[in-house]
Formats: sequence, structure tokens, C-alpha cells
Amino acid sequence: MERTFVYLKPNAVRRGLVGEIIKRFEQRGIKIVALKLIWMSKQQAEKLYEMHKGKSFYNDLIDFVTGGPIVAMIVEAPRVIEMVRHIIGDTDPLKAGTGTIRGEFALTITKNLIHASDSKENFEREYKIFFSDDEIIDYYLDVQDDI
Ligand code: CMP
Repeated sequence: MERTFVYLKPNAVRRGLVGEIIKRFEQRGIKIVALKLIWMSKQQAEKLYEMHKGKSFYNDLIDFVTGGPIVAMIVEAPRVIEMVRHIIGDTDPLKAGTGTIRGEFALTITKNLIHASDSKENFEREYKIFFSDDEIIDYYLDVQDDI
């Protein structure tokens, strides 16, 4: 089993896409082990995106992700880091395949609706910005036996 950190950006919440997006994870058999609606602080955004500091899109990105509530979660499944990135599609919605979340609902790279960790190392770094370990619930999900 593997875990990854995912968050739905403010435009996903504003557009009422939270249920649609979470449905896609659930129907794939991915288990949610932590979930919350929060308003990301500037400090959290700067920590999450520290590798992009200085890039042309950095300031717009920080303003955008701190501009409204987000839904943060940790999900679990075998090879879930790669799986989630397939479900959400390429960072650039123009290149995101049809049937992916960004391919169906996003138009621009800054407002690409959703973020997911791209490696185990980044999962370990990213989830700690938003969750404490006691907010992660370990439980048995029957559906994973049949998928
Ligand atoms: P995300 O998966 O949250 O990780 C970094 C974010 O930076 C990315 O999604 C985009 O929203 C944003 N981003 C990456 N590259 C660009 C770019 N070239 N122009 C604007 N925003 C970008």
C-alpha cells in the first residue's frame, strides 16, 4: 500500500466539483484516510511550492491557492502516486487526456483544479504541511478486496 497527498484547489470548491472529483477516486477503489476543508495560509502555500519560488508563475500561484478554501486529503491504494496522477491528468490541462479530471474540467495551468504529490519523497514533505499523523485514519475498506 502507498499513500499520496491530494488537494482540490479553490476553484474546484467554488465550482462545486468536490463531489465529482472525490467520486472518481472512490469509484477507482482508492481509500481516503484523511480529509478536511481548510483555507491554506500563505506560509503553507510558500512551503508547499518552495521549489517554484522565483519562477514567473509563483506569485499568481500563491495568490490563487490562498484565495479560497481547499479540500486536502491523503489517499491510499497500491501504487497510488502514479494512479492519482493518471486520474488527474497532465499539469497543463491542454495536454491532459480526455477522461482525466484536468482534461474534462480545467482550462489553464494555474487554475488546474487539483494537485497531487509526484513522488514518495514529496508526499512525505507535503502531507506534513497540512496534516498531523493523528489525523490519518487507518481502517479496512472492503471494496479494495474486489478491485
Ligand atoms: P501543481 O500540481 O499544484 O504544482 C505546481 C503548480 O504550479 C501546478 O500545479 C500549476 O498550477 C503551477 N504551474 C506549473 N507550471 C506552470 C506554468 N508554466 N505556468 C503557470 N503555472 C504553472
